[in-house]
Amino acid sequence: MKNFTEETTNFSFNRLPKDLQKSLSTIYSHTEPVANPLKVNAIHQGDASELLKKIEPNSIAVSVWSPPYFVGKNYEKHLSFEGWKNLLKSVIANHFSIIKPGGFLAINIADILVFKDEKMPKIQADAVHRKRISISKENILEVLAKNPTMNRNDLAKHFKCSEQTIDRRLHGNNVRGGKQETQSRVKIIGGLVENWALEAGFYPYDRRIWVKDAAWENSRWANLSYRSVDEFEYIYIFWKPGITRYDRNRLSNDEWKNWGSRGVWQFPSVRANDDHEAKFPLELPTRIIKLLSDENDIVLDCFMGSGTTAIAAIKENRNYIGIELNPEYVKLSKANILKETGVNSIITFNAN
Ligand SMILES: C[S@@+](CC[C@H](N)C(=O)[O-])C[C@H]1O[C@@H](n2cnc3c(N)ncnc32)[C@H](O)[C@@H]1O
Repeated sequence: MKNFTEETTNFSFNRLPKDLQKSLSTIYSHTEPVANPLKVNAIHQGDASELLKKIEPNSIAVSVWSPPYFVGKNYEKHLSFEGWKNLLKSVIANHFSIIKPGGFLAINIADILVFKDEKMPKIQADAVHRKRISISKENILEVLAKNPTMNRNDLAKHFKCSEQTIDRRLHGNNVRGGKQETQSRVKIIGGLVENWALEAGFYPYDRRIWVKDAAWENSRWANLSYRSVDEFEYIYIFWKPGITRYDRNRLSNDEWKNWGSRGVWQFPSVRANDDHEAKFPLELPTRIIKLLSDENDIVLDCFMGSGTTAIAAIKENRNYIGIELNPEYVKLSKANILKETGVNSIITFNAN
């Protein structure tokens, strides 16, 4: 078996019980060396699923990112739902060899709240609060059962309402909504992400809820529906088997109490998405980085967008690697990093 030194593992591998040494040896051993690995403290333009293969194996302490959510943003318009699933699946799979043993992958994502489903029956709603006269179909049927010869006119007189009201109640003409459009439903994403991570070799370690501000404008269904508004997202945290460095001093007592040990995080989303359509707030990667890595570790974001994760990493004295498909966002990240931290990042452009 390969001899692992303290230098390669950060702990005394050879002092572990023999069966643990055996099961961990494949994870700790570097697989294929990568030719021209991606530079650290740099942003690389290109497709995440390709460029991740060029990162040094077992080198990333934590990877934190927010992918396209498949909600129709400009940067994901080219993707079908199948294409979107394939992208996330391959990105997660390509993380396994590059995360340090005992390290983490943190994915910020949300359920898709308006997921078009051609096969879904039309949701229709009997808007009872809109009925000015409180007679139900059942009330009419009850009277008809006792007086089978009553016609519409007799029933209207009996209930002191119009014949039209009798007709509407009996024939359900008050049922509204959804007659034309394809229906939309909620698409729950957690199960997909969990399966992709398990298939890659990771284990679900934790999940947190980020409560942001309520986005009423995303809730077109609020009419004729009991659905809630869009006001939270998930952070799924996956663990690569290995020895995890546990240091209680990474956070202060107040930080542990206020968020380190809390499953629900509450901070506002970015108010002005003026330079990028879907930034996450600095607080999000900052918390993940502080909780799950140490100074001088390498933090990865393979959907870098406007550079938020790199800014958080630099502010917390970590190194970073950024990957972003859109060349304009690569330049934007560089500019934002410079503005917020004074650091001039390297950028590379790839031909895929
Ligand atoms: C939700 S945004 C991330 C925003 C980022 N967290 C921030 O705070 O600015 C997703 C980003 O992924 C990028 N992207 C989409 N497909 C990609 C791919 N295949 N490889 C790398 N980046 C991609 C988009 O251009 C977009 O900037």
